[in-house]
Amino acid sequence: MKVLVTGGAGYKGVRLSKALLDKGYKVTILDNFMYGFNSILHLAEYKNLEVIKQDIRNKVSNLSDFDAVFHLAGISGFPACAANPASAQQINIEATRQLAEAMGKEQILINASTTSFYGKSGDKCTEDTPISPVSHYGVTKYEAEKIVLQKENSLSFRFATVFGFSVKMRMDLMVNDFAYKALKEGVVILFDSFAKRTFIHIDDAVDCYLFGLENFDALKDGKVYNAGGDDLNFSKLEIAEAVKKHVDYNIIDSSIKDKDLRHFIVSYDKIKDKGFIPKRTLDEGIVQLLKVFKYYDSYLPYNII
Ligand SMILES: NC(=O)c1ccc[n+]([C@@H]2O[C@H](COP(=O)([O-])OP(=O)(O)OC[C@H]3O[C@@H](n4cnc5c(N)ncnc54)[C@H](O)[C@@H]3O)[C@@H](O)[C@H]2O)c1
Repeated sequence: MKVLVTGGAGYKGVRLSKALLDKGYKVTILDNFMYGFNSILHLAEYKNLEVIKQDIRNKVSNLSDFDAVFHLAGISGFPACAANPASAQQINIEATRQLAEAMGKEQILINASTTSFYGKSGDKCTEDTPISPVSHYGVTKYEAEKIVLQKENSLSFRFATVFGFSVKMRMDLMVNDFAYKALKEGVVILFDSFAKRTFIHIDDAVDCYLFGLENFDALKDGKVYNAGGDDLNFSKLEIAEAVKKHVDYNIIDSSIKDKDLRHFIVSYDKIKDKGFIPKRTLDEGIVQLLKVFKYYDSYLPYNII
């Protein structure tokens, strides 16, 4: 099978691309490499790998060559979208439209969506819960999902917030951020410590994408799936305390409101019923992160587009 991974040089994309290559798929990574090429150097040895440096806002040539497309390219997360709202609009929505409309009926499109647009109600959200995004990121990802779902042979996975190590790190993700600050700075300041979110280990996120492709026929009628695990819904305070089990540091519970208003938990019954359950725990991810962060010292700026 020939597979295109847009955003294949990113935090999740590079881990997914390697997993696909390890399983024998022919993989093409399409990325504008705005974070550089280093993240894919370790994949150069795979003879089944091709690389295209391209902005996803431009038409993808030879798109019909691919049996399946994993669409991960985008401006990811609340801070990056807030810093670049117009780019987020063009890349997350308009480029997705162009891609989906250019694909043939039979080609499979698997979309990297998010639970982020479930909003601030604090409720347990299923795929049928009315969405209420509280950020530009959430708005763009929901608009993109609606476009993807119009295509026959498409799936949209609403991922929990990912944690864990990748060759291309994302330090704005909560577990990664708290583990780094606990270890390096000895303090984490919590805003809205009660606020609940939902999480998934990066290896499970990769497994979920593979599950989607390899069980596509069984999943396709369901179209939208929350992607995560029921045991991985936590408040910010619970995440901070989980990190504290492994490193001694100060948790400051601030009374200042967070600019990011998200507060929800998520039901994963739909994907569980199809056979996907995450295997890795929060604790495992924190231990892996702390091991790497001991020697890691890098924050990427958001204003680089
Ligand atoms: N990481 C998470 O917690 C999470 C959770 C839910 C959904 N998602 C979604 O998964 C996808 C991947 O997220 P990630 O965490 O790997 O983020 P990332 O920022 O690390 O990866 C995004 C990739 O897209 C590429 N890209 C951005 N703009 C581009 C453009 N105009 N043309 C071509 N390539 C472009 C970047 O270079 C990068 O390699 C995103 O769509 C994100 O919204 C991520």
